[in-house]
Amino acid sequence: MNAIPAPHLASEQPAISAAVARFVQRPPRLLINGEWVAPHGDARIPVFDPASERQIAEIANADAHDVDRAVRAARAAFESGPWPQMLPAEREVLIWRLAELLERNAAELAELESLDNGKPIAMARMIDIPGAIQHLRYMAGWASKIEGATVQTSLRAAPGTKFHAYTVREPVGVVAQIIPWNFPLLMAALKLAPVLATGCTSVLKPAEQTPLTALRLGELIIEAGFPPGVVNILTGLGETTGAALVAHPDVDKIAFTGSTEVGKLINIAATPSLKRVSLELGGKSPVIVLPDVDPSTVAAGAAQAVFFNSGQVCVAGSRLFIQRKVFDKVIEGVSEASRSIVVGPGLDERTQMGPLVSEEQRDRVMAYLQSGRAQGATIAAGGEAPQRKGYFVNPTVVVDVNPDMKIVREEIFGPVVVAQRFDELDEVAKWANDTPYGLAASVWSNDLRAVQRLVPKIKAGTVWVNCHAMIDVALPFGGYKQSGFGREQGRAGIELYTELKSVCMAV
Ligand code: NAI
Ligand code: MG
Repeated sequence: MNAIPAPHLASEQPAISAAVARFVQRPPRLLINGEWVAPHGDARIPVFDPASERQIAEIANADAHDVDRAVRAARAAFESGPWPQMLPAEREVLIWRLAELLERNAAELAELESLDNGKPIAMARMIDIPGAIQHLRYMAGWASKIEGATVQTSLRAAPGTKFHAYTVREPVGVVAQIIPWNFPLLMAALKLAPVLATGCTSVLKPAEQTPLTALRLGELIIEAGFPPGVVNILTGLGETTGAALVAHPDVDKIAFTGSTEVGKLINIAATPSLKRVSLELGGKSPVIVLPDVDPSTVAAGAAQAVFFNSGQVCVAGSRLFIQRKVFDKVIEGVSEASRSIVVGPGLDERTQMGPLVSEEQRDRVMAYLQSGRAQGATIAAGGEAPQRKGYFVNPTVVVDVNPDMKIVREEIFGPVVVAQRFDELDEVAKWANDTPYGLAASVWSNDLRAVQRLVPKIKAGTVWVNCHAMIDVALPFGGYKQSGFGREQGRAGIELYTELKSVCMAV
């Protein structure tokens, strides 16, 4: 569809600040036992600015030797020294201090995140950095509120003997935390906050594409005064650093966010030692639009649901199911919205959508579009990668699809939505569930009966009504089916990092 004008492209990537320029020139170091240490081997990984394709930094590819050092440090910090002696209220104060430091450095962190990941700086300021701070503050409060229960047993014993039984939650131990590149600092904070609240220790591995804010966070962790070894940060590739971390015998738990493919590998690798595993994986989340809605309002919501963060969101509303009566109007609205989005380099204040994170991701998304065309789908808007430097893909709306097409079945993780018509509620519930994933869904309607009938039928960890991607730290978050298991955030997020011990005393 060459009649469609390309979205307005903002200028070249603006210059970076002196503080960020200094930071990205740091030599490759790993945070082990409270110190920035040189990696064991010589392997390095280049880090790119996705808007200009220029290399901006170089990081270490930590090897098994580095992983072993970091796990030993985390083990020592967990078992002895100041950390296990610390009162919950003292951990709480430390976490608050870290949140304070993030707040004080918010402008620099937002710039660094935008440069590294490609996302608009306005988004990093509004979502990523405040979100990271919020996770820390929310979980700080939990440190002093972890409870067990006293239990009335029906045990029979010798006359006169009574039982006092209770449960306690204990920290699970040394946790390997592996995170993706779509919300780098937010994911790091989301993972570390419950570790710090419960008294666990961590070896954190950021994604190789976006390690910079995690490294800056490491500096702030030292500055906040956490004891050495409580948080260790290793940069490196998944297949090397990540795999060595997962295989390490002294890791008690693995917390992973990323692809379903790697989640399965991790679950298998954890089996011989039965490490605890929590997995937050991919999705192909349905957005279901019932006929009573105002099409233009819903179109704006549906566009936001899939195009936010260039579609690189695990809960992206990537499958749009629209009731026949409003289909054309909603599609028109979403297409219009997609054409009005300002696509450009992240550091440009005017940019509303940045490039994808990497060349690989851009090529992956373009290959999906190609396969969609080849299988007979129609591109209603977008569909191309602009001819310019940077890993850009224009926001894209695809219609005339069927449930067997690859673009309908697989997670694209880019700014691409596939839209289908439906007639009946029962039919749409079945279609919405016709996916290996079950992370999230949204239903758009004010018909109370219809909404209440639909919500229980949807197999997903989160269902939104008249909104999408409203993720709050107090609300448990996680997947059904192949979107993973375990729930992060809220009380459930604390429970994820504890073992439950039952104590039964004859008295
Ligand atoms: P990935 O799952 O390979 O990477 C995520 C993290 O896992 C990174 O830190 C990576 O280094 C690590 N990793 C990779 N292989 C590993 C291994 N064998 N052992 C231990 N750690 C390992 O994701 P990738 O390749 O960057 O993206 C591929 C697709 O995954 C995307 O197109 C998207 O569909 C999905 N994805 C989903 C995310 C989500 O938030 N649910 C986030 C990132 C990607
Ligand atoms: Mg991968």
